Amino acid sequence: MLDVSLNRHTSQALYRQIAEQIKTQIGNGRLPANTRLPTVRQLAQELGVTRLTIQNAYGELQADGWIEATVGRGTFVSPAVQPMSLQPTIGQFLTPDSALSDMLEINHIIGVRSMAMAHPDPTLYPTDEFYDYLNRLRPIAAQLFNYGPIQGDAELRVEVAKLVQEAGITAVPEQILITAGAMQAISLVAQALAQPGDLVLVEQPTFLGTLNIIKAQHLRSQAIPLHPDGPDLEALEQAMREQRPRFFYTIPNFHNPTGYCASPEKRAALLALARQYDCLIVEDNIYGNLAYDGPPPPPLKAQDGDGRVIYMSGFTKDIMPGLRIGYAIVPPHLRTRLLTLRRSTDMCSPELTQRALAHFLRDGGLKRHLRRVLPVYKERRDTLLTALQTFMPAPVTWSQPGGGFSSWLRLPRYFAPGELYRLALQNGFAFTPGEAYLMDALDAEHLRLCFGNQSTAGIRAGVQLLSELIRQRMQAGSRPSTWLPIV
Ligand SMILES: Cc1ncc(COP(=O)(O)O)c(C=O)c1O
Repeated sequence: MLDVSLNRHTSQALYRQIAEQIKTQIGNGRLPANTRLPTVRQLAQELGVTRLTIQNAYGELQADGWIEATVGRGTFVSPAVQPMSLQPTIGQFLTPDSALSDMLEINHIIGVRSMAMAHPDPTLYPTDEFYDYLNRLRPIAAQLFNYGPIQGDAELRVEVAKLVQEAGITAVPEQILITAGAMQAISLVAQALAQPGDLVLVEQPTFLGTLNIIKAQHLRSQAIPLHPDGPDLEALEQAMREQRPRFFYTIPNFHNPTGYCASPEKRAALLALARQYDCLIVEDNIYGNLAYDGPPPPPLKAQDGDGRVIYMSGFTKDIMPGLRIGYAIVPPHLRTRLLTLRRSTDMCSPELTQRALAHFLRDGGLKRHLRRVLPVYKERRDTLLTALQTFMPAPVTWSQPGGGFSSWLRLPRYFAPGELYRLALQNGFAFTPGEAYLMDALDAEHLRLCFGNQSTAGIRAGVQLLSELIRQRMQAGSRPSTWLPIV
C-alpha cells in the first residue's frame, strides 16, 4: 500500500523524503482518508532506517495535519484530507476568474503542494506581534469598532505617507486613500478613470485580478507585450498615439506573473511617453519591498514630476494578505470621485486593524519583519532557480526574478499548460497556467511558479515532479492544445 523509495545520495534527509512521498500519495488519492499507516517499527524495518527517522517523518505529517495518531489504535490518514481527485470543479475551466478561484480553493486543501499563489508564507506572518498591537487597543476598541473615516484611519495615512516618502515619493497623508487590499485600489481607480467601453492598456502578461476588474467594469483593453526589461515601448507609443487610452496599468517592480523588473531607461521612457501623449499611468508596486539582490528600484511615482502616475500598493505581500489593507496616492482632482466610489462600495475598512497596522509601522514593525523574511524568501528563490536548472528538460526556460514571488516558465510551443495543470493537480501539485494572465490565449505556452509559500524541500520536490511530468509528455509526443480559450 505504502510505496516509499529512498535516495541515500541526496542532501534531503531521509525522514523528509519519507514524509514528502507519503504526502504525495495522500494528495493524489492513493492513500485515502482513514487509511491505516504501518507502525513505526514496521516501516523502519521495511525501509532499513531507524525508528527515529520514521518518528520524525510521522511527526512532521501529523504537525501539518496529514495524519492522525491515536494511542492504542495506530496512525491513520487524516479524515480532513481531500485529495485532488475529490475536487471535480478545480481545473475545469481556465479564465482569470476561475484561476483565482482555483488558487484560493487549492490553498485550503491538505494534500496539494501549491506553488500556484503569489503570497507569503503564513508560518512567517508576524501574528504574535500584531496581536500585541491589537490588544493594546482594547481600551479604545468601542471607538474603533465604529464606522471609520472613508479615506482611511488618520494615523495609518500618516505612516503610509512616511513609508512612500522613504521610497522617494513626495506625498502627504491627505493624498493617501486606504483601500480593502490593493485590488480595491485598482478597481476604484479604474472606475474613477474609465467608463464602460473605454480603452485601457495592460502589460501582457499581467496580474489576473486586474484582468478581472477590466472585464467586470466592461472596459476594453489592449495588451502591450512585456519584455524582461519592461514594456515594449514601440507598442506602447503606438497605442498611446493612436488609441488615446484612459490609462496604462503597469507593475514595474517584480512583476506578477513574470518577476521582471523594468530597467531605469524604460522607466524614464515610459514617463516621457505619458507626458508626450498625456496618458495616465497606474503603477502597482505591491511587491516593491520584496527585493532579494539589493535595494528595490525606486517606483515610477518617485520620478513623476507632473502628476501622471497614480500609485498603489499594500501590505498583502510583505506582511499578510488577510489584513486586506492597500492604498493609493490620489491626485487632488480624483479625490472626491474616489471617496464617493468607496462610500458606495463598502464604506470603509475596519479601523481596528488599520490602527494596529499604523502602530506596527510607526514602531518599525515592517522593517523588522522584512529583515526576518527576506533572507528566507531569497533562499527559496535561489532554491527554485537551482531546482529548475537541475531538473527541467532543455526546451523549458524561465525568468530570474530579483524579487517578488513568481517565476515565469516557457514551455515548448506544442505544450498545452492547461492539460499539464490538470495532470499536475492529479499528482498533488499546483501551479498556474499562463493563460490566466493573458488578454488573449494565443500565447498559451507559459506557466507561473511561486516560491514564497513552500519550504526549500517542497520547492525542490515540486519542481522535480513538474519536470518529470513535462519530460513524460515530451517523450509521449504532445498533441496541439485542446484547451478552452479564455472568454
Ligand atoms: C500585482 C498585484 N497587485 C495586486 C494584488 C492584490 O493585492 P491585495 O491582496 O492587496 O488586494 C496582487 C495579488 O496577487 C498582485 O499580484
